Amino acid sequence: MTTTLVTGGAGYIGSHVVVALLQAGHEVVVVDNLVNGSEVAVERAGELGGGSPIFEQVDLTDRPALRSVFADHTIDAVVHLAGLKAVGESVAQPVRYYRANVIGGINLVEAMADFGVWRLVFSSSATVYGDPRFLPMTEDHPLGAVNPYGRTKLMQEEVFTDVAASDERWRVALLRYFNPVGAHASGRLGEDPSGAPNNLMPFVMQVALGRRDQLVVFGDDYDTPDGTCIRDYVHVVDLADGHVSAIEALERFPGCRAWNLGTGAGHSVLEVVHQAGAASGREIPLSVGPRRPGDAVASVASVERARVELHWEASRDLGAMCADHWRWQTQNPDGYPPPSPSGD
Ligand code: UFG
Repeated sequence: MTTTLVTGGAGYIGSHVVVALLQAGHEVVVVDNLVNGSEVAVERAGELGGGSPIFEQVDLTDRPALRSVFADHTIDAVVHLAGLKAVGESVAQPVRYYRANVIGGINLVEAMADFGVWRLVFSSSATVYGDPRFLPMTEDHPLGAVNPYGRTKLMQEEVFTDVAASDERWRVALLRYFNPVGAHASGRLGEDPSGAPNNLMPFVMQVALGRRDQLVVFGDDYDTPDGTCIRDYVHVVDLADGHVSAIEALERFPGCRAWNLGTGAGHSVLEVVHQAGAASGREIPLSVGPRRPGDAVASVASVERARVELHWEASRDLGAMCADHWRWQTQNPDGYPPPSPSGD
């Protein structure tokens, strides 16, 4: 029996990872500071995964509290997703981002080594590639983040790479996510952004729901078939399964290695709007605004390495991503309820 610690397990991607791990037979301990997560998501992940994840409300910058989690539980592997993730906010509050993400990551690997835990799967991002120089992007694409959030991901990758090189017991997977969207097919788990969403899919879904008047498309004069930017959207349940595959692959890959998690297919902003309209049966009013500074025209993953080495491949298409995201939104229009002692 493998006991896996999931940092950020009460968040959007983390809660889906908890389900996937439970279904694969892992015992799960969740650590989350609940800044952007919900204890109800952990409870529901337990129901959906058929297990009982243990929840510890701990912030990774609190070293003594983090160490007591390792002292209290026998951990075999760690999936590290905890962190702040809004690009714009990271520009306004860089110190907060460096502390939470970089210091948090350092505290984590320090505690792992002290307690003899050598298996780490890290939630990284395609943002570490900076502006795409060629498509699809392979894991050998040059690195270079273009904002503080991206630099916190890149710095953590560098720290973990150096740490893995310092002791041959380490095995580290750097998972570079492209654009995670969608929700668990049950409609019980999904993304619960506080305030106005920064990302396209949750924003479009809130427009479909009538919570926002219209989508502003950030530029339609790009050099793409319909003039809008292209991204590699990947269903969060496929993404979550990729973490289980990565833990298994660590048995075959000593040291530190990066894998892209995407579909290898690109979709434009207008394609997403079209599919979200079809999934919701609602009109999605939109207007075209100026380009958003820093946006790349297109970002698409090369998924070959993950397919060959992780034995993982995304199987859900954009239609399923939209349908599942819509089901979550309609069933939970206000996100997660507050936790109750008897469950929800
Ligand atoms: N977009 C709009 N209107 C909106 C929101 C987004 O037109 O209201 C467009 C963006 O311009 C972009 C596309 O929709 O072309 C996707 O935007 P997202 O913000 O959903 O995703 P990004 O690709 O910009 O950002 C993602 C992650 C970030 C990460 C970044 C770079 O969400 O965390 O990729 O890898 F930093």
